[in-house]
Amino acid sequence: MNDQNQRTYASAGIVWYYTQLNQLQPAEQVILDRFKPQLSSMRMLDIGIGGGRTTNVFAPLVKEYVGIDYSAEMVAACQKRFAKNLPSLALEIADARAMQQFADDSFDFILFSFNGIDYVPEGDRLKIFEEVKRVGKSGGYFCFSSHNLQGLQKTFSLKASMSLNPLQTYVNLVMLALFKVLNPTVNAHQLATADRLIVRDESHNFRLRTYYIRPAAQLKQLEPYFYNAEVYSWQSGRNLSTQDALVQNEELWLYYLCQIS
Ligand SMILES: C[S@@+](CC[C@H](N)C(=O)[O-])C[C@H]1O[C@@H](n2cnc3c(N)ncnc32)[C@H](O)[C@@H]1O
Repeated sequence: MNDQNQRTYASAGIVWYYTQLNQLQPAEQVILDRFKPQLSSMRMLDIGIGGGRTTNVFAPLVKEYVGIDYSAEMVAACQKRFAKNLPSLALEIADARAMQQFADDSFDFILFSFNGIDYVPEGDRLKIFEEVKRVGKSGGYFCFSSHNLQGLQKTFSLKASMSLNPLQTYVNLVMLALFKVLNPTVNAHQLATADRLIVRDESHNFRLRTYYIRPAAQLKQLEPYFYNAEVYSWQSGRNLSTQDALVQNEELWLYYLCQIS
């Protein structure tokens, strides 16, 4: 899973795609607005910067910004993108699973946006949480997004594939068939009952192995490292503060904001 995903994030077309992104996602905007008064006093670590979508927004607002990515190609693309406007920007090639270049208790705010954490297997995901807890200051904030297994269950179902538009139905059914062919061991029962699954989904033409988790399981997984965890709707930025809102949510990914223990 690791090598395949890392190679995908090094490929020229995908690097180019990420350099074209500029807009914050609705949940990110809500979180930015919430932290705006404090950002100028915060040291921020932005993990998995890709083509610099969040760099563009956060680097000018925080006291100190450090951006990392394990794809040397993404870091190079960012260096090129910001060479003129933010020439002294700290951008480094680094893997979130082992961030030994950063001392303990270094950052007030750590971001791993747009589901970057979903491209490593379970054990490595826990290593990332461990590392974020180590390099983050106690009481500091960690924000990330992750794929929602409830959203996957809905997207790749026969019922959800049917649309009033015949062309859309055709496209949905082709995607469903591809999903089934490329994930032969994943069945409907697993989609309905598993807490977490790694699948080849449609992003970047099914090239990535992506980790999906139910929001309730994600909250549980965070407990050893973080506290005050909140879940935000990716699409509306609404805080999903009730059990019902979490269990019923069928968005493809969600944002999590928590404090470092
Ligand atoms: C979906 S892209 C998002 C890029 C950017 N954050 C954005 O929002 O446009 C995920 C990024 O995370 C990076 N990434 C994935 N796993 C990583 C890891 N273990 N350490 C550092 N970067 C990682 C990938 O190289 C990729 O650039």
